[in-house]
Amino acid sequence: MTNENVLVLDFGGQYNQLIARRVRECNVYCEVKPFNKISVEEIKKLLPKGIIFTGGPQSVYGENAPSVDRELFELGFPILGICYGSQLMAYTLGGEVSTCLTSEYGKTKTYYDKDCVLFSNADIKEQAVSWMSHTDYISKLPDGFECVAHTDNCPVAAMANKDKKLYAVQFHPEVNHTEHGLCMLDSFLKDVCECTGDWNMENYAEKAIEDIRQKVGDGKVLLALSGGVDSSVLAALLSKAVGNQLTCIFVDHGFMRKNEGDEVEAAFKDWDINFVRVNAKDRFMDKLRGVSDPETKRKTIGEEFIRVFEAEAKKIGKVDFLAQGTIYPDVIESGAGDAATIKSHHNVGGLPDYVDFKEIIEPLRMLFKDETRKLGQELGLSDTLVWRQPFPGPGLAIRIVGEITDEKLEILQDADWIFREEIARAGLDRDINQYFAVLTNNRSVGVMGDFRTYDYTLALRAVETTDFMTAEFSRISYDVLSTCSSRIVNEVKNINRVVYDITTKPPATIEWE
Ligand code: XMP
Repeated sequence: MTNENVLVLDFGGQYNQLIARRVRECNVYCEVKPFNKISVEEIKKLLPKGIIFTGGPQSVYGENAPSVDRELFELGFPILGICYGSQLMAYTLGGEVSTCLTSEYGKTKTYYDKDCVLFSNADIKEQAVSWMSHTDYISKLPDGFECVAHTDNCPVAAMANKDKKLYAVQFHPEVNHTEHGLCMLDSFLKDVCECTGDWNMENYAEKAIEDIRQKVGDGKVLLALSGGVDSSVLAALLSKAVGNQLTCIFVDHGFMRKNEGDEVEAAFKDWDINFVRVNAKDRFMDKLRGVSDPETKRKTIGEEFIRVFEAEAKKIGKVDFLAQGTIYPDVIESGAGDAATIKSHHNVGGLPDYVDFKEIIEPLRMLFKDETRKLGQELGLSDTLVWRQPFPGPGLAIRIVGEITDEKLEILQDADWIFREEIARAGLDRDINQYFAVLTNNRSVGVMGDFRTYDYTLALRAVETTDFMTAEFSRISYDVLSTCSSRIVNEVKNINRVVYDITTKPPATIEWE
């Protein structure tokens, strides 16, 4: 079965992935392609049901501003331009774009034309809030277009050429702050592009299992299992597809959270697969002695991981396929090309030529995180694995600021355990996307009983985010924070001060290292 396909043409906007996720939420399959990596000829062959232009940081008049071939508008594909994409549509088709007298940023009262198919759904009010983020605007409509939304400062907040199925919105319907934005996208997809919405995880699981069987035949598959959502879902999918032709190697580097290594082992060891756990903490600790620089830690752990994995894989002998839990955001990000390296993520970008295998398979590479979770549920994985919060490849090693010692690791594991326990007790564990403790390298004076102490400061971090590219700190109540703090200082040795990290990303990152 081939799904209906919508093309999201990426002009470098910060919400490019979010647009694609929203389209998938409407049960329509879509793929994101950088605007300069797909030609009009290739688009013709792809035969998308519709095309969405993302926003982007440039002005259409800027030097090297992203552009598209005018021919694209003549092919009969429905197109929706968003933000920069809307200006590009106007400009390319002979309209004009100018700089706003007053830039619009944030929630903005918007007036919609209810006769336009994008806004005709009964839920959408004639006046509602949209999310704006622009300094240019469409100052003259191209021929054949009419204005279908405006704000107090922006005369063309949306334009449409119904006959040609071309639509453009200056605001961001993909962002939650735009009231009924998802409904607008759904109307474009279902009423303009005429998609039926045939994308769901039940179909996907069946098809993926079939595809894996076809590809793998009676070959051997090797998977590095971390116990994270992606590799666990992949293990479940592969075990359904090829059973004990699969070997999972779980390299326990010793930097898992308290008890986690055992939990991962318990979750997988009774499956009809070959499961190998390697306890390699000593090797990793040896390599990290004296290392306190975050990037060196990450690189050291990444390299050692490969070595341990390689040694174990060699024991199995030749495998045919190496499976990787790459998911779609990794694919989009690596396609985007010139983003600066903020941190070198281990486990993205891949395992090596060192292992003797024929081919890499990445059955999740077209799925977003929430889809991966749905697939996990579809395959019957436990809630603990499906809802596990993200955990970085290098583990607690990058949550201990400075040099790692056994003692510090134990302190952090105990404190983190209490924090997680209290968050779950407060019923917040599914609302907060990621929450953890960080052992800082800072020591300060305290008093316990009649004694002076000179101990570590522990930081608590909890964030709410949809894409992990930007994040808000979670507004956990003082009561919950206070319970965490007093339990931690009382129950964990060598911590005499607890602080809560109240920075957003950007400018901070989620992890401290
Ligand atoms: P930052 O700290 O960059 O983190 O804001 C964004 C998200 O990525 C996770 N993270 C990692 N995930 N390998 C991973 O698989 C890594 O090396 C790694 N480093 C950070 C982080 O936990 C957060 O969810």
